[in-house]
Formats: sequence, C-alpha cells, structure tokens
Amino acid sequence: KAKVAVLISGRGSNMAALLYAAKAADCPFEIVLVAANDPGAAGLVLAAAEGVATFAMSHKGLKRAEFDRIIDAEIRKAGAEYVALAGYMRLLSPEFVGKWEGRMLNIHPSLLPKYKGLDTHKRALEAGDSHAGCSVHIVTAELDDGPVLGQTPVAILPGDTEDALAARILIAEHQLYSRVLAEYVQRDSQPEAILAQVRERAMALPRAE
Ligand code: GAR
Repeated sequence: KAKVAVLISGRGSNMAALLYAAKAADCPFEIVLVAANDPGAAGLVLAAAEGVATFAMSHKGLKRAEFDRIIDAEIRKAGAEYVALAGYMRLLSPEFVGKWEGRMLNIHPSLLPKYKGLDTHKRALEAGDSHAGCSVHIVTAELDDGPVLGQTPVAILPGDTEDALAARILIAEHQLYSRVLAEYVQRDSQPEAILAQVRERAMALPRAE
C-alpha cells in the first residue's frame, strides 16, 4: 500500500475520512503519519486513538523553510511516499513543495479555479452561484493552483448559510478526497505525466523578483 502522511491544522475531518477509507482491505493507501502545525489540533487525538503515529509542533517563532524542513524530516522518517494536505492552513515553502512535487495533494472547498484562498463558501453565496463544491489538486508553489484531479459540485440551496453550505460540501469533500487519493496512488503514469503538467504550469507563471 502507498504510504501517506496527512498534514492538518485543526478539526481533521478530512484526515479522519482518509483514515477510515484506508481501513478497507482493498484501499491502495495507508496513513503512516498525521502531522500538525498546532499541538492543539483536535484531529491529533483521533489519529492517536486510531493507532496512527502523530507529530505536532507549533510553527510559531520559526522561519517557514525551517519549520517545513522539520516536517519534511518527520514525514520521511515515517516512510511516507505521498503527502495529503487536509485543512493544513499554512503556506508551504517552495523548497518543501519542490521536494514533494507530484506527490502532494490538497483538498480545497471550492470548484477551482474559482475562489482560491479563504472564505470560499461566503464568496460563492455572495456571487449568487448555483453550485459550490470542492476540488482535490496537486500542490504547486502557487496557492490552490496545481492541476485539478477531481471535483464535486454541490448545489446551493435557497436560504443557505455559510455554515449549512460548508457542512454539505464537507460531506462531498470526505468522499472526493478518499476516492481521488486512491486513484492517484494507483496511476501507472504517475509521476511523469503529472510532473510534466506541473512543470509546464510553473514555467508559465511570472517569476517573482
Ligand atoms: C476543509 O473544508 C478543507 O477543504 C478546508 O478546510 C477544512 C478543514 O476541515 N481547507 C482549506 O480551506 C484549504 N485552503 P477538516 O480539518 O475537518 O478537514
């Protein structure tokens, strides 16, 4: 089975979805580590209770690249081959992203390329969209920008609040992430075809001075 490290910052419900999906005998991945940048992240308790190794350390007071090197070392120590970001609310250093190129996925609560960043549900409601949803994508150096591997549209209902919409999208997130991660780790073409896509996109980006 493909070994996956999951990075979280809080509740960890997507991490839990991956962890429970991984309990199925025919699931092609297993969770070997749950790491958090906040020792108070609720998801850590669940992961530990399920017998999964955990690592937690606050990023406060550390430079981004320095903190990411610590996380990277932990992930490697755990033997992970893939990284799944699941509500990891921290930008990653280009060094870290480079090291996991084509092997790091993220779940985002919008139909990308719409609504990158925060407040996705609010923005979808304010725009009067008929559908919101969630996306799983490959992580690149640009925020919420890598190639999209899968999406689930979720209808916006009359009278929907941010919380109600977020709760419904979360149900879709849990299913989507498990399915897409399973498909991804089984791909024969991986990582060559995906890497070509990632690199093409990186070259098209304006260079930061
Ligand atoms: C999820 O809705 C996830 O899509 C979102 O944070 C929530 C985490 O919940 N992620 C982002 O907004 C990343 N930009 P969880 O901790 O229960 O999985």
